[in-house]
Amino acid sequence: MSTTRKRVRKAVFPVAGLGTRFLPATKAVPKEMLTVVDRPVIQHVVDEAKAAGIEHFIFVTGRNKGVIEDHFDSQFELERTLAERGKTKELEQLMAELPRPGQASFTRQQAPHGLGHAVWCAREIVGEEPFALLLPDMLHFAPKPCLADMIEAYQAHGGNHIAVSPVPEDQTHLYGIVGVEDRTAKVSRISGMIEKPKPAEAPSNLHITGRYILQPEIFAILERGERGAGGEIQVTDAMIALARSQPFFAVRFDGTIYDCGAKIGFLMANIAYALARDDLAPTLRTELAKLLQA
Ligand code: UTP
Repeated sequence: MSTTRKRVRKAVFPVAGLGTRFLPATKAVPKEMLTVVDRPVIQHVVDEAKAAGIEHFIFVTGRNKGVIEDHFDSQFELERTLAERGKTKELEQLMAELPRPGQASFTRQQAPHGLGHAVWCAREIVGEEPFALLLPDMLHFAPKPCLADMIEAYQAHGGNHIAVSPVPEDQTHLYGIVGVEDRTAKVSRISGMIEKPKPAEAPSNLHITGRYILQPEIFAILERGERGAGGEIQVTDAMIALARSQPFFAVRFDGTIYDCGAKIGFLMANIAYALARDDLAPTLRTELAKLLQA
């Protein structure tokens, strides 16, 4: 690998999954468009990437996901109506959040062959440079964006980076798990990766949280189309193969993760994000207390 480090400018958001755990809500509405407070889940994740300095947002979409593209496009009639009605604050917010022309790209995964396959679909747009991969289901709630920590770690060490967080020791079989050289360090070299190990076989209890910085050589591995767990092309399998020739680092995430692909995670995210807002927290606290006493 060259010693001059290429900047991480691009982020990939795989949004082609079927969202079966949220049916019937996701029959016509993509799960990434379900709202946490007043922002779609995907917008929260794009906000994280933007705050970390990402300049190009690549969405891997699928059938029935057109509304995601609309969300990141200008809405001329709405903007004109807001202007006519003097709703300047709302209009300014919409305009500030709109990607600049050319900053957002959309490509389609024609069939849901797995997360690894979705990532591979972005290869032509990513090109020959390191990129961030953010799983939109996983909201990382913390004062400093998780991806910002990872980009700092990448600038210091190069290579590939995976955000990790501890899970209870008896739950390793539900996650991708990594072993690390130094359990106490914020950033540590990864010594092994394994998908959903039984607790006795797990090298640690650090799970892969859904934020990655990957080198473009991952695409050649994904290109082979090897099927893993569930008969799908898995990104973890491709990372295990890439780790034979390139370094991987774990970056510990110290905030809270909400899995918005699951019902409890989604409900908890709504409460946590609302409690973090001055305009909503006092009333929400009162209403929640009433509800819990009933
Ligand atoms: P999930 O397995 O959580 O998403 O994939 P899913 O398949 O939509 O959900 P369920 O299990 O049916 O409820 C994690 C992320 O990877 C994307 C999903 O959109 C989600 O953001 N993904 C998954 C793809 O883009 N393509 C795939 O083939 C699989």
